Amino acid sequence: MKKCRVAAEPKPKQKYKIIIPALNKEYIVDPNDIPYGKHGLPGSVLDVIGAHDEEIIDHACGGVQACSTCHIYVKEGDESTNELSDIEQDCIDKARGIKLESRMACCCVGDGSKDIVIEIPSWNVNAVKEGKD
Ligand code: FES
Repeated sequence: MKKCRVAAEPKPKQKYKIIIPALNKEYIVDPNDIPYGKHGLPGSVLDVIGAHDEEIIDHACGGVQACSTCHIYVKEGDESTNELSDIEQDCIDKARGIKLESRMACCCVGDGSKDIVIEIPSWNVNAVKEGKD
C-alpha cells in the first residue's frame, strides 16, 4: 500500500517547517535542536510538535510505536520523509481512517529538503477533544 521514501531516519541538513494549516500552527525544525523532546524518534513530527505543544497530537504509548493514536496525514512534503518501518506500518494498519498519506507522528522524520504539511484526524486532536481550540 505505501510508497517508498528516502532512507530511514534522515538527518535534516537545513531548517524546515512542519505546518498544520487547520490549527494555524507552524514549527521550525532546526537540525541542531534535535532531539526536541522525549517522545518518538528524534526529529519526528511528534518529537518536534510535542516539545512545543504537548497536547496537540495524542501519543498514548509515549511515542514508542506501540499504539496508533499519533496517526497523522502528510499532505505535502511526503517525499522528504523517512521510509516506513514494518513497526510503523503495523501501527498504521490498526489506525482509524487510514489513507495513502497516513503516518505515525512518532515515526515520521523529515530530511529538511521540504516543509511538511500535516493534518491530524479530528478524532486524534487532543486540543479539540479537550475543548482547547
Ligand atoms: S505515539 Fe504510539 S505509535 Fe506513535
